[in-house]
Amino acid sequence: MKTFRSSEALKGALVSFRKKNKKIGFVPTMGSLHEGHLSLVRLAREENKAVVVSIFVNPLQFGPKEDFWRYPRDLARDSRLLKKEKADFIFAPLPKEFYPEDFETSVSLSRLSRPLCGAARPTHFTGVATGVLKLLNIVMPRTLYLGQKDYQQFRVIEQMVRDMDFPCRVKAAPIVREADGLAMSSRNIFLSRTERREAPFIRRSLEEVERLVKSGFHDASKLKQRALEILKLAPHARLDYLEIVDAQSLESVIRLKPGSKILAAIAVFFGKTRLIDNVLIRG
Ligand code: PAJ
Repeated sequence: MKTFRSSEALKGALVSFRKKNKKIGFVPTMGSLHEGHLSLVRLAREENKAVVVSIFVNPLQFGPKEDFWRYPRDLARDSRLLKKEKADFIFAPLPKEFYPEDFETSVSLSRLSRPLCGAARPTHFTGVATGVLKLLNIVMPRTLYLGQKDYQQFRVIEQMVRDMDFPCRVKAAPIVREADGLAMSSRNIFLSRTERREAPFIRRSLEEVERLVKSGFHDASKLKQRALEILKLAPHARLDYLEIVDAQSLESVIRLKPGSKILAAIAVFFGKTRLIDNVLIRG
């Protein structure tokens, strides 16, 4: 496994794979890796000849009051984990080289970036899309691997790739969870003991939505109301949003149509730590 700081060196290492038309799989991350990230690396490993993992805490996707500075970073630990998974290349660019002082271009998004996480984080998805497009242009993978955990991010990137005719496939992999159901996240380490004990109710509230849909409830506001009752069992949780949306357009759904694919998505604060989760449901 080799680690690169410069994009030119990484491109050079990938030339021979591209020339021989060998499949390159790409997993972008911000490091502080856990089983959720590693599940993507494993999938990429199964399906490709070369696996590239980027580790870059992308400053463009953090708002001014967000946790860019306290976001956990540990390249040595991440490298050990990736070596075990037999990743071939780590790309860990330096922020000043990735975004030089005269950098000024960004990807402009519209509908998909506005609801859900976009409401409280208006510049977030533009930052994500700009960073990911730049990474894609450096790595030029056959397949890009993303987690369903950040479903809106997946949709935004899937759409960007399609709209801009970028020649790669985009795959979403299932959410990996702790034993008690909490979605794995690099931010879980910020939770106090009490918060950690309450955090599984985020998932439980979504399970309630799923259960009710399966038993015939179709009214979104009723579903939300019942989910919020479950979330009350976590008194330290402060709701950012709980939405039921169409899984493709991310537009709010008022009444579920039979057979339609919907997403129940939630974001919750515990103190300053913001956690998200979601479930895809057939209506
Ligand atoms: P990061 O939060 O590090 O996540 C990297 C990838 O791992 C994303 O595709 C995310 O959806 C996936 N992931 C995180 N937790 C997961 C879990 N519990 N189960 C399954 N997959 C999980 O998302 C980002 O970084 C950044 O926005 C990035 C795409 C790298 C752009 O900067």
